[in-house]
Amino acid sequence: MNILVTGSGGREHALAWKIAQSPKTENLYIAPGNAGTANLGTNVPISATDFPALKDFVLANDIHMVVVGPEDPLVLGIYDYFRDDETLQSVPVIGPGKAGAQLEGSKDFAKAFMMRHHIPTAGYRSITAETLSEGHAFIDSLQAPYVLKADGLAAGKGVLIIDSKEEAKAELTNMVNGMFGDASKTVVIEEFLDGVECSVFVMTDGEDYKILPVAKDYKRIGEGNTGLNTGGMGAVSPVPFAGEHFMQKVEDRIIRPTVEGLKKEGIDYKGFIFLGLINVNGEPKVIEYNCRMGDPETEVVMPRIQSDFVDLLEGIANQDLKNRELSIDPRTVITIMLVSGGYPEAYEKGKEITGTGEHIPEETILFHAGTRQADGKLLTNGGRVLAISSYGNSMDEALSRSYKVAESVRFDKMYYRRDIGFDL
Ligand code: AMP
Ligand code: GLY
Repeated sequence: MNILVTGSGGREHALAWKIAQSPKTENLYIAPGNAGTANLGTNVPISATDFPALKDFVLANDIHMVVVGPEDPLVLGIYDYFRDDETLQSVPVIGPGKAGAQLEGSKDFAKAFMMRHHIPTAGYRSITAETLSEGHAFIDSLQAPYVLKADGLAAGKGVLIIDSKEEAKAELTNMVNGMFGDASKTVVIEEFLDGVECSVFVMTDGEDYKILPVAKDYKRIGEGNTGLNTGGMGAVSPVPFAGEHFMQKVEDRIIRPTVEGLKKEGIDYKGFIFLGLINVNGEPKVIEYNCRMGDPETEVVMPRIQSDFVDLLEGIANQDLKNRELSIDPRTVITIMLVSGGYPEAYEKGKEITGTGEHIPEETILFHAGTRQADGKLLTNGGRVLAISSYGNSMDEALSRSYKVAESVRFDKMYYRRDIGFDL
């Protein structure tokens, strides 16, 4: 098969790495990709949201499947664009249609969906400028801290967690008045849930599902989970607290009702469901849905999948996922993200990266996130630059392998957290 992966981060490198291993893969293309994906296939300079350009490329290069990495093209309707175009209909897109992508694209939709299907989540109220006083009254009824979420996509910045009641009311007013543009015209106010988070990934063909390895990511920039939120500074899989008993509850109360709920509502969903969960005294609750794989979680999930991933993707496309095999490597995989100094605020790009060529042990994989190649040099090209994933028979073994490689990589103002996995 000729396969096109869209996106340019560490997640897409990890997806491409796994897809490239399949005997079913003939030609692999990544649009737009990064310096890492260029070693696995052909990078194509097309943005993941430029549907007409993707169409031309797919037709000209006899592409048999499109695997969508990020959420934006899904929320914008890439699946529907292919389905509704006569010349593209036969090319499966791995990812939900616009309706299903609303699980991520609209927090209000996701909350209402969970209510309809009795899926455990935090209590909430959706508020607009017209119902602001109701929002203030709801805040009065809650205990601190207060959770305010922009309804729409806000590049990971749309969630505020605020200790003071007065400040929460003021921020609610700012949000509905356009603090995050149209994304916060509707705001979801949520009850605060106290617990440890984990990420559960499900592949579904709309009928059946398979549960991929569970992971935990580290979102804050600073050690001890302090400072600003980032896209993710590291990840661990498996997650010790998400054992068989907990995962059985997740499957019974969350995964099955979600897949069945989508089906009952006539929503065509063939792709990944990412459940952001919180463990509240042993009880799983949904913090958020995403309609794609996580980043950096994919950089620990893909290395743990032993089966042919393309075979599984075909199972999604052909709606016979139940006949496909999923086997999981029992070892731990941990990834450490090397980031540009200043990230997640302003940072510089174009710094030369050295030390990625040598001494990489067999148990370690270097996934590129924000990199590009120019004049024979490897350069930084984003906030998150490289994800160093290692296998280990224990967390300590995986960590020490990744940290050892991190020490040999260099670029100006490089930063990484030295405490990934500290709380497990
Ligand atoms: P989200 O974008 O919905 O995943 O929210 C971003 C982060 O905010 C989550 O990863 C949690 O750490 C935190 N968060 C979101 N909702 C809640 C909640 N109801 N209770 C506690 N923390 C939350
Ligand atoms: N690591 C969280 C995300 O991909 O949204």
